[in-house]
Amino acid sequence: MVSRVIPVDPFDLVIFGGTGDLARRKILPGLFRRFCAGQMPPEARIIGAARADISEADYREMVGDAIEEFSDGAVVDQDHLAAFLADLTYVAIDAKGENGWRELAGHMRRDVVRAFYFSVAPGLFGDLAERLNNHGLTDEKSRIVVEKPFGRDLATAQQLNRDLAAFFDETQIYRIDHYLGKETVQNLMAVRFGNVLFEPLWNSQFVDHIQITVAETVGVGGRGEYYDKSGAMRDMVQNHLMQLLCLIAMEPPARFDPDAVRDEKLKVIRALEPVEPHHIVRGQYGADTEDPIAHPDYRTAVADLKSATESFIALKTHIANWRWAGTPFYLRTGKRLVARSSEISIVFKETPHSIFGEEAGRHRNVLSIRLQPNEGIKLGVTIKEPGPGGMRLMDVPLDMTFADALGEEGAENVDAYERLIMDVIRGNQTLFMRGDEVEAAWAWTDPIIKGWQQRNDVPKPYDSHSAGPDAATQLMRRDGREWREVAL
Ligand code: BG6
Repeated sequence: MVSRVIPVDPFDLVIFGGTGDLARRKILPGLFRRFCAGQMPPEARIIGAARADISEADYREMVGDAIEEFSDGAVVDQDHLAAFLADLTYVAIDAKGENGWRELAGHMRRDVVRAFYFSVAPGLFGDLAERLNNHGLTDEKSRIVVEKPFGRDLATAQQLNRDLAAFFDETQIYRIDHYLGKETVQNLMAVRFGNVLFEPLWNSQFVDHIQITVAETVGVGGRGEYYDKSGAMRDMVQNHLMQLLCLIAMEPPARFDPDAVRDEKLKVIRALEPVEPHHIVRGQYGADTEDPIAHPDYRTAVADLKSATESFIALKTHIANWRWAGTPFYLRTGKRLVARSSEISIVFKETPHSIFGEEAGRHRNVLSIRLQPNEGIKLGVTIKEPGPGGMRLMDVPLDMTFADALGEEGAENVDAYERLIMDVIRGNQTLFMRGDEVEAAWAWTDPIIKGWQQRNDVPKPYDSHSAGPDAATQLMRRDGREWREVAL
């Protein structure tokens, strides 16, 4: 299989927060990989901008170190690295003042795409937008990329949308949800809408339930201060899990284009039923019993021994429309769980009648879409157990683990950020959230969070390396269902 890398048009990309964690971990290493893959044209220019008063040489050195550190074990080609760094520019800038803006404007070319990546706290989005405008950098060649968290509730998200809309058209605003850039997430759409097999069954008549699990082994690490103000609901459910749910549940868009896809996703969010308090389980992880110093319990990690923020959440919700009425969606995500494993499972109903008799057992098909690790799609089908001795049934997977099915190219790990940044340059908003989508997602999560505050809800403790609190297991068992195992 030959990979087809089509270079994008020349561009200027400014990374505000260019010395920050996300820039060092994801954005710059991602751009470097696209550079090595030949996707960045020689005329592309990257400009780091941040508060730190450092020289360009220092910045290049810092970026070089970051690329080495976050290369995921890949060998970094030193010639490529030197060429990449040689074109890197740095501008020390004051987001709330005037320092550095004239210099930045002087670096920008008029005849190429200009992308501004706001890899900074949302509190600075409005300031940056205003100053870009003051320096004549907001014309139709400009676009901005904004990171989550996009607000912390509906009111703050609406305010951010207004702040940005004062200077940019919606078609210029790229709200990142990096889950939409994951390979398998896009494949989910290819599987759903590129095959005739699944869509006729994709409804409550044939689907018993859908479960989405995003399990992490990491704890809050050094992000305790941010995380304790957010919790799993704001950090993961309001964005990543809801986006996955939308792609699973939406009606087929007429075209794979930004508005057609986002219109359908929005309808799903608006059709979500409010979640009843007894359909939610919140948890907080305990210390790692083997190494409690390196991996303390949640409250110690966030330095608040009374914290009532959840590091785990499991919930059941319904979509009130013709396609999904009666099919529950179970969502689950948490930190310090037993494995890093993200999977969406479409669990179909049992056959209405077994011609093989009850002793052959009742079976159901499960389509599992695995985001990470071992990206791939598996369909569990029922066959006869081989050998003589009567008709016994067993389940086997039709396995499309990409690394096996597609060889090395299939396993090629294009990080979500790389893909999404290239989409920004190409001007393709399909995999970015529209303002109304983000607001609708907050409108659904706000009452849930308010309910916890009103009831002084306290998350349940769960063991590190477990699958979360037992109550999460019971949430499903009460309905006669089981979570699929959190496993590698
Ligand atoms: C981020 C969250 O958006 O996603 C983190 O803020 C989380 O808390 C991360 O760890 C998970 O992303 P991934 O790609 O590692 O699954």
